[in-house]
Amino acid sequence: MNTVHDIREMQRLADAHRAAGRRIGFVPTMGFLHDGHLSLITAAKAQCDVVVVSIFVNPTQFGAGEDLDRYPRDLARDAALAERAGCDTLFVPEEGAMYPPGYGTAVDCNGVASTLEGASRPGHFRGVTTVVAKLFNIVKPHVAVFGQKDAQQALILKKMSEELNFDVDLQIAPTVRESDGLAMSSRNAYLDASDRAAALSISRGLREAEAQYRNGERSADTLRRTVEHEMRLAGLTIDYVALVDARTLEEMEMLERPALLAVAARAGSTRLIDNVVLQER
Ligand code: PAF
Repeated sequence: MNTVHDIREMQRLADAHRAAGRRIGFVPTMGFLHDGHLSLITAAKAQCDVVVVSIFVNPTQFGAGEDLDRYPRDLARDAALAERAGCDTLFVPEEGAMYPPGYGTAVDCNGVASTLEGASRPGHFRGVTTVVAKLFNIVKPHVAVFGQKDAQQALILKKMSEELNFDVDLQIAPTVRESDGLAMSSRNAYLDASDRAAALSISRGLREAEAQYRNGERSADTLRRTVEHEMRLAGLTIDYVALVDARTLEEMEMLERPALLAVAARAGSTRLIDNVVLQER
């Protein structure tokens, strides 16, 4: 595995792969890799000749007062994990090269970006779509793999990619969970033991709502209240528990088509998100 920091060098490497007929798989990350990221690398490797993993803590997707400064970073550990999972090139650009002084271009995805995370974190998705568009132009992937845990992000990036005609097959891989159900996230590193125990109420609540759905419950209100109850009991601060159309993210009252049950909450000072898709088998 090689590590590339320079944008032009990464573009030249991508051009060489393409000229040789090699398919490029891409997994964009902000580092501090966990098994969720590694599953994305494995998925990319299974269908591509080479896999590029980017590590870039993108400042433009963090709002004022968010955790940009304390976001966990460990490049040596990430490099070892990525290589073991099958990464061929680690792309680690400098912030000043991605956003040089005077930088002024952004990609906005309207509609689906204004609800849920978009409502709670204004400007967040503009930062995500902008950096992923830039990364696509640098890494020139055939396939890019994102995680279902960030369901709204995946939906927005698919829409951006289609609407801006990126020639990238954008794929979404399932959420990877700890054995006790907690969705894997780099931010889990912030949790102390009691916050972590409380955070388990998120996946517990989602599982309970899913079981109710399987038993025929179709009222969004009832399913939402099941999740909220679990989370409140555990002492989490709920940001939202939402039941929305899995494709459009419009709110639903009765679940007559595939729905996304999405949650955001704080365990102590750590903001966590998780979701489950409810649809008939
Ligand atoms: O999901 C993430 O880690 C980030 O939002 C992404 C897609 C790498 C863009 O910075």
